[in-house]
Amino acid sequence: LLTAYRNLKVDTPVKSVQLISLDRPSALNALNRELMGELDDVLQKTQNDNQIKCVVLTGSEKAFAAGADIKEMKDISFVDAYKQDFLSSWNRIREFRKPLIGAVSGYALGGGFEVAMATDILLSSSSAKFGQPEINLGIIPGGGGTQRLIRAVGKAKAMEMILTGRMMKAQEAYERGLVSQVVDNEQLLPEALKVGEEIASKSAVSIQAAKEAVNAAYELPLSEGLRFERRLFHQLFATKDQKEGMSAFIEKRKANFSDD
Ligand code: HXC
Repeated sequence: LLTAYRNLKVDTPVKSVQLISLDRPSALNALNRELMGELDDVLQKTQNDNQIKCVVLTGSEKAFAAGADIKEMKDISFVDAYKQDFLSSWNRIREFRKPLIGAVSGYALGGGFEVAMATDILLSSSSAKFGQPEINLGIIPGGGGTQRLIRAVGKAKAMEMILTGRMMKAQEAYERGLVSQVVDNEQLLPEALKVGEEIASKSAVSIQAAKEAVNAAYELPLSEGLRFERRLFHQLFATKDQKEGMSAFIEKRKANFSDD
């Protein structure tokens, strides 16, 4: 993970928890191709790094990310967008198998909001503002906004935000279940890292299975989702960590998971 990135800072402030900070302050972390390529690269390396069990993704105090880069997008033609399958690489975030905690302060707009919604657990500071302002640019959300926002806040609110471009503040996002916690600005990273550290103390195998099972609820009808969950549940009895976790409980000691 020694690669130098121009638009990201990558650090491991807590054992087993990687912190990725979007770092393109001149454009409020607008997500240009280079930045997204770097994010793709670091997620791929992190996926294969057994030392890392959980990732926190954050931005700056002023902006998590103000959207896809408008200056870069402006002159794209339909044919370019179609041939390159513009934005298809954004699926990489969804394919990441370790828990991804989003920590948002300031603006999370357009593609920035969509990246935030693609994380598994979203924490926000009280200054966070979420929005899908694409309608003001003559486009619509293209990174999952029309699909994920409705699942998070319901149709009426999602339509209102997507059709008007209005922003939603942190407290409302919390009340609607879009974010799991709202904390003071200075508490945002410490709290996100604390959640990450707690997750990282579990077995990597059951963490991965839990994420996979919860995400299946987005895709499957209930009967299939329940079947999928049960299959994963059964499979965990083939792991050393299941034996360790249950033995530790019975022996009244702390489990020492080997991620095996
Ligand atoms: C490119 C951007 C940008 C963006 C901000 N900047 N957002 N550049 N793309 N999305 C740049 C500005 O041009 C400016 O550069 C610098 O960052 C600071 O921004 P200001 O506008 O001066 O800051 P402020 O007045 O504080 O306003 C903050 C803001 C505003 C409300 C967040 O920047 C804004 O409305 N940004 C655009 C938000 C947006 O429409 N997002 C959706 C993008 S479309 P200079 O060089 O002038 O100093 C999208 C499509 C997603 O995301 C498709 C799927 C991925």
